[in-house]
Amino acid sequence: MRTPIIAGNWKMNKTYSEAKVLLDEIKNLELSENVEAVVCPPFINLALAKEVLEGTNVKVGAQNAYHKDSGAYTGEVSVAFLKDLGIEYVILGHSERREYFHETDEDINEKVKAVLSHGLSPILCCGETLEEREAGKEKEKVKIQIDADFEGLEAKDFENIVIAYEPIWAIGTGKTASADDAEEMCGYIRELVREKFGEDAANKVRIQYGGSVKPQNVTEIMSKENIDGALVGGASLEAESFSKLVNY
Ligand code: PGA
Repeated sequence: MRTPIIAGNWKMNKTYSEAKVLLDEIKNLELSENVEAVVCPPFINLALAKEVLEGTNVKVGAQNAYHKDSGAYTGEVSVAFLKDLGIEYVILGHSERREYFHETDEDINEKVKAVLSHGLSPILCCGETLEEREAGKEKEKVKIQIDADFEGLEAKDFENIVIAYEPIWAIGTGKTASADDAEEMCGYIRELVREKFGEDAANKVRIQYGGSVKPQNVTEIMSKENIDGALVGGASLEAESFSKLVNY
């Protein structure tokens, strides 16, 4: 069976001093051992997160990475650097990176391959805009992303891949997709993985829903067959709320 995974995407929130306070609180939470809990702070707080959370079951993820290992790429952080720190997950292709930083599916594909080649797990984000949903093109959009972002991968890679379905209109807006709509898309994504990479890959890949997940709606979302977890922004920035999400 697939282990549920609840990941907190801190985005560009929490200074070093603020992160220290929140991580100390998270360290002291009683979190379910049946759920994988992950925090994804900004790069500058990753080493701190590893240090504070040592000895707990909470894992640490990054929010992005560059696909080259080292060299003249001013301002970038490589997967090799993250690996050396003991980081286990890397969020890739978040809609904010696609929109504000112009990341293309080709860029994301290179990043996915780099993350896998270093033995880390990508949390690959996909999802449609409101206009695409209203035009009935949400599946078409997600298929384009899944096809391109996973180009050249092998079936066995999916043991280590997490996919986050995040409809863009539900991110940070307070609007959640209905649990049924989320389930339908997550089921469709699993089907896409099955068609291209086979039954085993489809059964092993973990698929999260993301977009205004909070303690009040997490239980219903997690009750769905094809939803194995949640990628949570706003509601992961407070320890009590994070614990309610992990202990759904
Ligand atoms: P949100 O963000 O929970 O604040 O809507 C989710 C995400 O963007 O990963």
